[in-house]
Amino acid sequence: MDVFRIEGGARLAGTLRVNGSKNAALPQLAACLLTDTPVTLRDVPELSDIGSMYRLLATLGVDLDRDADTRTVTLRSADEGKSHATYDIMRTMRAGICTLGPMLARRGSARVSLPGGCAIGDRPVNLHLKGMRALGAQIDLDQGDIVATAPGGRLRGARVFLGGSFGSTVLGTANVMSAATLAEGTTIIESAACEPEIVDLADLLTAMGARIAGAGSPRITIEGVNELGGTDHRVIADRIEAGTFMVAAAITGGSLRLKNCPLDCMMAATELLRDSGVIIREEPGADPLRATCTVEAGDKLMPAELTTQPHPGFPTDLQAQFMALLCLADGNSVVTEKIFPERFMHVAELSRMGASLHRQGATVVVSGVRGLTGAPVMASDLRASAGLVLAGLAAKGQTVINRVYHLDRGYEHLETRLAEVGAKITRCDDTVAARVPKTTDLPEVTVVRRRPVAGPAS
Ligand code: EPU
Repeated sequence: MDVFRIEGGARLAGTLRVNGSKNAALPQLAACLLTDTPVTLRDVPELSDIGSMYRLLATLGVDLDRDADTRTVTLRSADEGKSHATYDIMRTMRAGICTLGPMLARRGSARVSLPGGCAIGDRPVNLHLKGMRALGAQIDLDQGDIVATAPGGRLRGARVFLGGSFGSTVLGTANVMSAATLAEGTTIIESAACEPEIVDLADLLTAMGARIAGAGSPRITIEGVNELGGTDHRVIADRIEAGTFMVAAAITGGSLRLKNCPLDCMMAATELLRDSGVIIREEPGADPLRATCTVEAGDKLMPAELTTQPHPGFPTDLQAQFMALLCLADGNSVVTEKIFPERFMHVAELSRMGASLHRQGATVVVSGVRGLTGAPVMASDLRASAGLVLAGLAAKGQTVINRVYHLDRGYEHLETRLAEVGAKITRCDDTVAARVPKTTDLPEVTVVRRRPVAGPAS
């Protein structure tokens, strides 16, 4: 199994391009099931989660024509008779649930395995099902599968409230909005997720012929149409990857220029960084969703209060990375997780690196320390792993991060890109990492070819 070996302390400097967004691309790929004409998506990142979605769509009768070099994929739903999303793929990638709405809307029925539990919490899909039922679907559970049918072959528009105990649901909103595009009549989603990935999905669906108003606000109105067609769409840039790179600059005392950076939808993160003393300069002229900016560590890192919230609040997907940064702040910070209250797998691992963390329920008090020390640590979910990589970049000595397949689910060639801007990081086989002694200058090791492995869903 692959591990990352990091020799901490190198200051990062240089330019990185932010890739297309994983979480925007996944429901968009599923949306190709809404039409039998080809849909082309550009800037789709090469990730193991995306690969799992491609495999799932192939089993659902979709022909895929992919160009990995240009990150462009053209999809055509060619065989509408195959509508069973099976557990073997669904358990590796929760976003597979987003095939439910499109299949139900277009084909009149669908069978989709319940995705199961994951490392960051229970993650139920009750709100997805509530939305489908509101649109008139008959839903049964059989052997762990959701069996859904639209009476008379077509969904009906309805008013549906998608708020849950932890706010709205991003993929639930994507699923119901996609399904409603082909329903008969008007659908109003109240307490819809406002995330930029929902706006980007609405842009794609609109380009396919859907009639959607209000995406990005808590009320989305969808006028159902009889059919949708193909289109060509470029996926928005990944705000979580951008935020991770920003922390990489700040935590290493470095300076990174980020291209294709969706600054316009990152205000909660950039404001927190600025308040902590990090300098962010936007270059004038560019599209604020594809901006170029420079992120530079300040003289001193100040502590902060961070509470995760639905967009435009601070994103849960950056909580672990920012916690790693706050470990080195000059004072006490408070981190509260309000989306996934159990999403703290990184706390014990950061503590092994010398962080001073005290968790009580969904809150962690982070007492800043002067430095972290490298250690062997275990990646547990995608974003927790990213937090450990960042801590490893700043730590004294060597950090070995096990189970990096979690990272491959959401960051494309992370080690190569960080190495390009000065990080001392290599991917190697865990047996090699175990043999290599600690050094300040990394000796040559056998770098194995990247082998993305689908990990447990997160
Ligand atoms: N929830 C319910 N019922 C539901 C759905 C969600 O109670 O039917 C709860 C969840 O348990 C959670 C809250 O609502 O407490 C929000 O969950 P949400 O449904 O919004 O999460 P998601 O749509 O399944 C997406 C991202 C996650 C990201 C969350 C929150 C994708 C593929 N996944 O998940 O991304 O953390 O929104 O922003 O878009 C990641 O990229 O690492 C990742 C986990």
